[in-house]
Amino acid sequence: MYAAHTSLTRSFETRFLSAQRVATMIAAKGLAACLADMAACIESDFRRWEAFDKCARVASHSAQGVIELMPIADQQLYAFKYVNGHPLNHRLGLSTVMAFGVLADVATGTPLLVSELTLTTALRTAATSALAARLLARPGSRRMALIGNGAQSEFQALAFHRLLGIDDFRLYDVDPAATGKLLANLASMGLRGTVCRDAREACTGADIITTVTADKTRATILTGDMIAPGMHINAVGGDCPGKTELHPEVLSRSQVFVEFEAQTRIEGDIQQMSADFPVTELWQVLRGARPGRRNASEITVFDSVGFALEDFSALRFMRDLAEELGVADSLSLIPALDDPRNLFGYLPAAEPLRDRPAARPGHLPDTQYRVAM
Ligand SMILES: NC(=O)c1ccc[n+]([C@@H]2O[C@H](COP(=O)([O-])OP(=O)(O)OC[C@H]3O[C@@H](n4cnc5c(N)ncnc54)[C@H](O)[C@@H]3O)[C@@H](O)[C@H]2O)c1
Repeated sequence: MYAAHTSLTRSFETRFLSAQRVATMIAAKGLAACLADMAACIESDFRRWEAFDKCARVASHSAQGVIELMPIADQQLYAFKYVNGHPLNHRLGLSTVMAFGVLADVATGTPLLVSELTLTTALRTAATSALAARLLARPGSRRMALIGNGAQSEFQALAFHRLLGIDDFRLYDVDPAATGKLLANLASMGLRGTVCRDAREACTGADIITTVTADKTRATILTGDMIAPGMHINAVGGDCPGKTELHPEVLSRSQVFVEFEAQTRIEGDIQQMSADFPVTELWQVLRGARPGRRNASEITVFDSVGFALEDFSALRFMRDLAEELGVADSLSLIPALDDPRNLFGYLPAAEPLRDRPAARPGHLPDTQYRVAM
């Protein structure tokens, strides 16, 4: 039936990475190695800051959560991520954060890769957090409070272990089942965790505090009296208008670092501060243009919201890993045409429209028809 349409035998395919495929790729390389290499990938892209066409992400808010689109491009590659944030999804058996994304060729607009990004987001968020902490935490940091023990937490713990040598985790979550799950998963990776009664206990004596909670509200996970000189705070869960984790006093006592200022002013914990509250973008520290931590007693905050450039790097990383591992799944997403102006010719040959029998729901007709005018 398709014999006359040689275009259909020509292959133009978009690479496809399913969630299962990405999970097996991570297992093949090793999660810790993926986190380290992804951090290196993110660092090299942040160092090329001016090469990117950047914008704050586009958010659609609802009473339950948010759905966001995150585009970015350099001269060669365009990327976007679709991602949601619905803190009550667990009640429906769904993840708080779910994502997928695309990598495309700038010169032609051809989609090169469609990939899951739920797992990949957890990796890139943790890799970015650890990258920032390597610049901002006190050298020799060993103990991290981990507040919010949900889907992102294991990735955060392992990234900080691998990139900074953190080996003492103090855990707290309002849901003891989440902490039990994290403790068991840490043990399976050979990492030690201590369950704490509350956030204050978790923070006591910590070098680094990671807040990675999910609640669609102005939460106050950390107050000024929980913070000691020299701490580094990795604030991950305040990433949306009206969704914060830090008391303003914590911010006013700290040097605050952000990914992309224009976006973080809207979404980060600094949404609580005045428009001229001073912040430093991470790329400036990476390039040595601005200082990171200046002394051992300074309090530093990485006000993380998640920026499209991290997903760009993560998509590149996954594309290259798939190549390295010989993964060749693909999607027939775009019609491959012998004559690109004859899109109509891609349709199967057909009888005149008037003779067309009605298609039964769920069944494609077994004969193909030309579309009649
Ligand atoms: N900055 C980024 O780049 C980035 C990336 C991914 C996710 N996030 C954010 O990180 C947060 C966590 O994501 P997740 O996928 O792990 O969500 P999740 O729903 O799987 O886990 C969130 C955990 O926070 C706990 N929690 C809620 N309120 C708390 C409180 N007051 N004190 C202690 N624990 C509390 C919940 O019980 C739950 O276990 C979300 O807010 C999400 O939007 C940010």
